[in-house]
Amino acid sequence: MNDKMIIPNHIGIIMDGNGRWAVKRGLPRTMGHKKAIGTLKELCIHMADIGVKYVSLYAFSTENFKREVKEVNFLMDLFINTFEKEFGFLKERDVKIIFSGRREPLPEKVLNAMDDLVNDTKNNKSLVLNICINYGSHAEIVDMTKKLCQLYKDGNISLDDIDEELLMKNMYNDLPPLDYVIRTSGELRLSNFMMYQASYAEFYFPEVLFPDFGVEEFDKALEEFQKRNRRFGGIK
Ligand code: FPP
Repeated sequence: MNDKMIIPNHIGIIMDGNGRWAVKRGLPRTMGHKKAIGTLKELCIHMADIGVKYVSLYAFSTENFKREVKEVNFLMDLFINTFEKEFGFLKERDVKIIFSGRREPLPEKVLNAMDDLVNDTKNNKSLVLNICINYGSHAEIVDMTKKLCQLYKDGNISLDDIDEELLMKNMYNDLPPLDYVIRTSGELRLSNFMMYQASYAEFYFPEVLFPDFGVEEFDKALEEFQKRNRRFGGIK
């Protein structure tokens, strides 16, 4: 890390490899998710410290409901416990927490823990932490399209009002474009994560499994970002 480093404004993290991390150690898959919370806390502090403004985390996809009921239930309980007991420090660190995804069919207790966190951090001003739960990019685009159709039907917008800005304003959250998407565990896929927002993002796919993706690994990712030549479709 040095003062001249370019800090991506908006970083997306696909936290992959928790299950494999646990299985490699002869532990149940769920222990990988538990370990990931510690890694996540460490990363959030670091990202806030170095001045990242927006972070989007892929915590649970719309497709993750296809996993075994036991694992889904474990993750739901882990979300409640993390939001109620582990994320208190983010309030003091001036981190604002928001969520992206469909509320239906998330359990009431998860929704309440999410709502409390949003409410408790709504005036915070440093890092915006966007947690994607029951999130899918396809679902987001479907939901945004429905909102726009309703606005049109009610006479609140005309066809000429529809532009990229209005589309973004009607997504789950109005966020700046992603600059850097990191997916741990060596998988080379976006898996329905913020496709629209990632259109000009740089990508980084380290082999390391998410529970081991601590500050040191994050700083390697940041060094790699310095080497990228971003042209956004223009010339050098
Ligand atoms: C992918 O690893 C990880 C998930 C589906 C869950 C991510 C959840 C967390 C990191 C914990 C909770 C997060 C928050 C924001 C409180 P995997 O299970 O697909 O691992 P594998 O590919 O090795 O099977």
